[in-house]
Formats: sequence, structure tokens, C-alpha cells
Amino acid sequence: MDFQALVHSRRSVRGFRNEAVPKTVIREIIEDAKRAPSSMNSQPWHVHVLTGAPLEEVRRRNMEEMAAGKPSKRDIFTHGPYEGAHRERQVGVAKQLFAAMGIARDDKEMRQDWVLRGFRQFDAPVSLVLTYDRVLDPGATCHFDLGALCYGIVLAAWDRGIGAVVNGQGISRSDIVREVAQIPDDEAIMTCVAMGYPDEAFPANAVRSERTPADAFVRYVGFADD
Ligand SMILES: Cc1cc2nc3c(=O)[nH]c(=O)nc-3n(C[C@H](O)[C@H](O)[C@H](O)COP(=O)(O)O)c2cc1C
Repeated sequence: MDFQALVHSRRSVRGFRNEAVPKTVIREIIEDAKRAPSSMNSQPWHVHVLTGAPLEEVRRRNMEEMAAGKPSKRDIFTHGPYEGAHRERQVGVAKQLFAAMGIARDDKEMRQDWVLRGFRQFDAPVSLVLTYDRVLDPGATCHFDLGALCYGIVLAAWDRGIGAVVNGQGISRSDIVREVAQIPDDEAIMTCVAMGYPDEAFPANAVRSERTPADAFVRYVGFADD
């Protein structure tokens, strides 16, 4: 796919066909993504690729703990609830997703079901858990590096007809992910990327989230006027 077509057609995928993604394809995706830039070429990342029984255990236990109202346990520091413009954008995409799925605003049961799907990594057949070397905490620069790798993974997957969603919910209980996937203590768990072949009949997969016009967040300094 050409670059323009790739970035403009990509969207998060939250409904997957029950079909395994071959290891060879995942390897290719990671080979592409690892060309991401990183601070001083430090490449502080690790990728733990989960499928089958370990992934089932992670999704079941993560969902059970969160559904029981236990607090999340993340390795990275996180912000509180979004407010202002950030909150408006969060609500905007949620409205789009709920409208696509036919979930009414006051339908608490279906809204909760949607949240639980997120904690289950949307039942994707594969999950890539991204970690970095903990010696780099408190992060920031290495978080940026992981973001570059992560977008590379998502785009390289999309280029191969594989859908993905970056899924903070899926590692809400990072302690469970660490235990099941046997992730060493000297790595901090950043996020996971749930992926698989898109279920074309799953309505939320068609949602194209909105973006603020570039003029609202870009300034040009020192350019001659057009
Ligand atoms: C760091 C990060 C964490 C995310 N966590 C979740 C998540 O837990 N659940 C979810 O449904 N989507 C999650 N997303 C996907 C965003 O909601 C999505 O990228 C955004 O709404 C823009 O939509 P698009 O990817 O379809 O363009 C996450 C994205 C990022 C970058």
C-alpha cells in the first residue's frame, strides 16, 4: 500500500476473525517496526508476543480483576481522567463506537460489556506486549521510543491486512501479564497491541475517528506568507 493510503485508511480494529496469525507474519511486522527511530538509537524495547493458552489466561484474569472493581496496576505512571478538550475527544470517539455498535447511552449493561471486551483485548488472537528496560525509568524519552515502535507495528500490520488496536485496558493488571508471560522484573510493561484479521462484519471496525484540523494545533514560524 502506498504511504498515504496506508495512514489514511488505518483505523483501530476491535473485532477479529477467529483465525491464527502466522508467526512468520508477526516476525515480518516486527522487522518493519524496529526501523523506528529511538533516542540515540538506544532501542530500549522488548516485544512479548502472546497467543493461545497464555493469552487466554491473561485476558480472563485481567477482565475478572477489573470487573470485580480492583484497581489497575500499571508499571508506568498514568494521568487522571481526561478533562477539557481531551475529554471531548475521548467522548467523541466513544459516541462513534457506541453508535456503530447500537449501544444506547443509558444501556449500562451493553456499555459495561464493551468495557469488558477491552479488558479481554477484544478477543484478539494475538497480543504484542511492549516493554522497555526499567533502568530507563521514569521514562519519558523511552516512552516516546516505544510509541514510535508501536505505531510502526500497527502500520506494518495494516499493510498486511491485519487489524490492531493499541490496548491499555488489556494490561490494566500488568502484574498478571508479567506473571503469565514470565516477563523479567527489569522490564517495565508499557502497553499491548491486540491484533488479528479484521472481522469485516463487526460494526465498530468501520469507525473512522475524527481529527482536529491541523490549523488548530500547528504554528508556522519564519515562513513567508503564502
Ligand atoms: C496509548 C494508547 C492506548 C489505547 N488504549 C485503548 C484501549 O484500552 N481500548 C481501546 O478500545 N482503544 C485504545 N486505544 C485506541 C484509541 O482509542 C484510538 O487509537 C483512538 O480512538 C483513535 O482511533 P483510531 O486508532 O481508529 O484512529 C489506545 C490508543 C493508544 C495510543
